[in-house]
Amino acid sequence: MRNDFNERVEKAVKSIRKITGATPKIGLILGSGLSEISEKLEGVEIPYSEIDGFPEPSVAGHKGIMKIGDDTVTLAGRFHFYEGWTMDEVVLPTALLHGLGVETIIVTNAAGAVNKSFSPGNIVLLKDHINLMGTNPLIGPNNDEMGVRFPDMSKPYTPELREMVKEIAKETLSNPANLKEGVYAAFTGPSYETPAEIKMARIIGADMVGMSTVPEVVVANWLGLKVIGLSCATNMAAGILDQPLNHAEVVETGRKVQNDMVNLIMGIVQKLNN
Ligand code: HPA
Repeated sequence: MRNDFNERVEKAVKSIRKITGATPKIGLILGSGLSEISEKLEGVEIPYSEIDGFPEPSVAGHKGIMKIGDDTVTLAGRFHFYEGWTMDEVVLPTALLHGLGVETIIVTNAAGAVNKSFSPGNIVLLKDHINLMGTNPLIGPNNDEMGVRFPDMSKPYTPELREMVKEIAKETLSNPANLKEGVYAAFTGPSYETPAEIKMARIIGADMVGMSTVPEVVVANWLGLKVIGLSCATNMAAGILDQPLNHAEVVETGRKVQNDMVNLIMGIVQKLNN
């Protein structure tokens, strides 16, 4: 993380403050094919191009729009490490949410199922993660005003909120058994994993694999944010089925699960606002 990271965050916060004084306590970061969730939430839309220091995301299925209201601020469109963004850019949105006064973030992603008892279409509540990206967003000088040099990561996904989500799923999902719980392992991508890599991920304890989320959750813990992580299992990971993986399928399954994901997230937002 560069020395000027907090100035970059402050600039981004200022450009939002010129448009709205809203101070939502819940922030959402939406993954591939899940951006329509923001349509159900109240707020003004601000394209990333109007946020100082924000790059424009480029992947299909990712919009670059913030939607900010009294209860929630949603970021549709992520900066992935595999696109060539620096880790500072990857975690800038998370730090911006914190800078706007958010206390809890809900991070969603599309991911491959490593656990063979999971199926495409499952929603997986994250309980922990494994960083296989070979880097860490906090490498570099530490900004002591934002967080400590060696942040604790023993409860990366807030335990009370995980219990809360499990209860909400019973009432909001068309089939409550569609909610699983698991560990997310992050590779850099952009190539999907090999069967041997997926086998390794399973052996070391992963249930899901993806190319995002871990940097954001590390920084969220550093900043003292509470975290809920939700993966949409869009496909079985490489080598489980005898078929190739493709991005179109990932986006398509994400869309199909969106209804359930929306209902679950709306339930979470309602509960957190009580
Ligand atoms: N691997 C990595 N990232 C992914 C996958 C996968 O199988 N599916 C969706 N995102």
